[in-house]
Amino acid sequence: MRNFLLMMSIGISVCSCSGEKKEIYKDPNAPIPARVEDLISRMTIEEKVGQMNQFVGVEHIKSNSASMTEEELKNNTANAFYPGFTEKDIERWTEEGKVGSFLHVMTLKEANYLQGLALKSRLQIPIIFGIDAIHGNAYAPKNTIYPTSINLACSFDTTMAYTIGRQTAREMRAMNMQWTFNPNIEVARDPRWGRVGETFGEDPYLVGLMGAQSVKGYQGDFNSTEDVLACIKHFVGGSQPINGTNGSPTDISVRTLYEVFFPPFKEGVEAGAMSLMTAHNELNGVPCHENDWLLTDVLRDEWKFKGFVVSDWMDIEHIHDLHATAENLKEAFYQSIMAGMDMHMHGIYWNEYVTELVKEGRIPESRIDESVRRILDVKFRLGIFEHPYADEAESMNIRMCDAHRETSLDAARNGIVLLKNDGVLPLSASKYKKIMVTGINADDHNILGDWSAPGEPEDVTTILEGLRQLSPETQFNFVDQGWDPRNMNPAKVEEAAALAKQSDLNIVVAGEYMMRFRWADRTDGEDTDRSDIDLVGLQNELIKKVAASGKPTILILINGRPLGVEWAAENLPAIVEAWAPGMYGGQAIAEILYGEVNPSAKLAVTIPHSVGQLQMIYNHKPSQYFHPYVNNKPSTPLYPFGYGLSYTTYDYSDLKLSASEIAKDGTVNATVKLTNTGSREGTEIVQLYIRDRFSSATRPVKELKDFARVTLKPGESQEVTFKITPDKLAFYNKQMQYGVEPGEFIVMVGPSSADDVLLKESFIVK
Ligand code: BGC
Repeated sequence: MRNFLLMMSIGISVCSCSGEKKEIYKDPNAPIPARVEDLISRMTIEEKVGQMNQFVGVEHIKSNSASMTEEELKNNTANAFYPGFTEKDIERWTEEGKVGSFLHVMTLKEANYLQGLALKSRLQIPIIFGIDAIHGNAYAPKNTIYPTSINLACSFDTTMAYTIGRQTAREMRAMNMQWTFNPNIEVARDPRWGRVGETFGEDPYLVGLMGAQSVKGYQGDFNSTEDVLACIKHFVGGSQPINGTNGSPTDISVRTLYEVFFPPFKEGVEAGAMSLMTAHNELNGVPCHENDWLLTDVLRDEWKFKGFVVSDWMDIEHIHDLHATAENLKEAFYQSIMAGMDMHMHGIYWNEYVTELVKEGRIPESRIDESVRRILDVKFRLGIFEHPYADEAESMNIRMCDAHRETSLDAARNGIVLLKNDGVLPLSASKYKKIMVTGINADDHNILGDWSAPGEPEDVTTILEGLRQLSPETQFNFVDQGWDPRNMNPAKVEEAAALAKQSDLNIVVAGEYMMRFRWADRTDGEDTDRSDIDLVGLQNELIKKVAASGKPTILILINGRPLGVEWAAENLPAIVEAWAPGMYGGQAIAEILYGEVNPSAKLAVTIPHSVGQLQMIYNHKPSQYFHPYVNNKPSTPLYPFGYGLSYTTYDYSDLKLSASEIAKDGTVNATVKLTNTGSREGTEIVQLYIRDRFSSATRPVKELKDFARVTLKPGESQEVTFKITPDKLAFYNKQMQYGVEPGEFIVMVGPSSADDVLLKESFIVK
């Protein structure tokens, strides 16, 4: 009897005792489509509409209620407070089976608690818990925090993207979370935009590969309790917003959508992504959240997307209250659902208005069934019906386990880019006995990056700690500049300047502030856009004053968006771009500074000189710099896409093509010889670019089409061969038809996208 009750309570009974038709949906051995249809046939309209709705976790609401004034509570929606309703209402709706999903549930305890409420409902449909696990499940406490996506992209290591996805999935399931709102596969094209660090950079090909491997890592075979649902986002165009501000309108031609912004999403769909999030912004005059062309014509009809579409935070509401293309909320819900929306993030009124719309006959019930079918299919496939809870006792055996910590460290070592080195690096402990360390990011957990909860001291190695651990014989003198770039103390800058003179070498750790638990103080991250890309506050002054000591001064950058550090690039002997390198970032940086690790990463995004140079991308069109600026500003970036230094040197030679002429459907191999000409083992990221020389519609001056990570010992050589297949030559011609046009193609191979370092050959397509 006890066992039977247990089975009932976790919702796996296979027959009904009341003599009704067999509950196929509760049978784990029944085919999933049969389970879905059986369950849908039992659901009321209210329950179906509820499955399409999401709420933020009750603890989140409680903490907001505690921290906000009565006035704020009445009017504020941005912090997920539901005016007029309390967490008790949400708990009741959950018990009534009218909530399909929660987000921002930060603890396993709360997830299990809410799941318990859902399982009290009539049909016992479990909740799917979604969270922004952007670089590990870092937003929830006590999980492995990996480097952020822009750092990962700079490693060009797609296997690492897969591994991190897999490990994150296991840690999430150990917290009873089954859905990550990641990967962000927007193509970053404006560094003013605060979310660049969440992306894989500016190149559609690299973004597509990294995104696809992340999806595969998260989802695995998509049939076990070690898999989670991936969410490719944000569809589409928000990474090229007018003025660089998050969610502002985007006006992008259909050609540019198909050439630049769509490809990663198409690859994400092909990699099997089972959810997609729409973008805040309007696209060419139509908000993405009600854009039938995007959500139905392109996504479903063209790409055959099988998963479900979720809105972004209150963005269906914004169709009415911001974009003003719906006269009221009910109309906004109507437009969004009819365009192809499946789930609402998040809030009240949805259940009431959408139910009314169905009962009034405006939204056919069959349209609602489509969405519910997609959502339930995912819940069945992820085994949530059979495993609605996670085990508290087991959880910490998986989260932050040694293997995951090791991956985080390895990823950081692979993703940190050495931008400049006049020979001062790697540091010699015997030469530099006294080192001053300063800067806002020198001893702060900000290295964890956006979408991280503050870490426990024992789980994070700051840069200062990393240096002290690695070189105990060195005297590191720390001048604390606080964590807040906007509120630096001029006296502390002077103190650092004075101490710099007495040191053998100085390290300034500058950059942005990204931790969201101090939301209003950040300078980089979501909703944190800037009208320039300079260092904030007294940071430049600090760098200049420390460098004025005449002692070698090294700059380390911790940031998400590219920073135009022109002065440092001209005047300092070494610069390291570490992005947000995660929980062991301090160790990885110290290992690179001291040469225990040979840096190998290359920029996944161009670093412009200044904001005036925007849009500075490597794959621009041929006419972009025909007329140079008249104010003596260069038309080349500060550091180009694909660029990054190593402690060894490489020689590229003997670029050969296997054919000088091919047919339209033919292939050609490009082979290059790479030699490690330095004195250290190293990993080089060999890049292949292609240009279509003459074409019916304009083509970029070069496009990344392949790359390889090659590890060589000193003196060792290796031939690297890239296969150039028709898909690497095809494009949308003048009539927007996709295919290969005859003519000359230039093949370029080398260590970065800079024109003067690339070997070139060409071939003809007949
Ligand atoms: C962001 C999304 C995120 C969601 C849930 C929104 O503000 O744009 O990327 O997934 O919040 O946290």
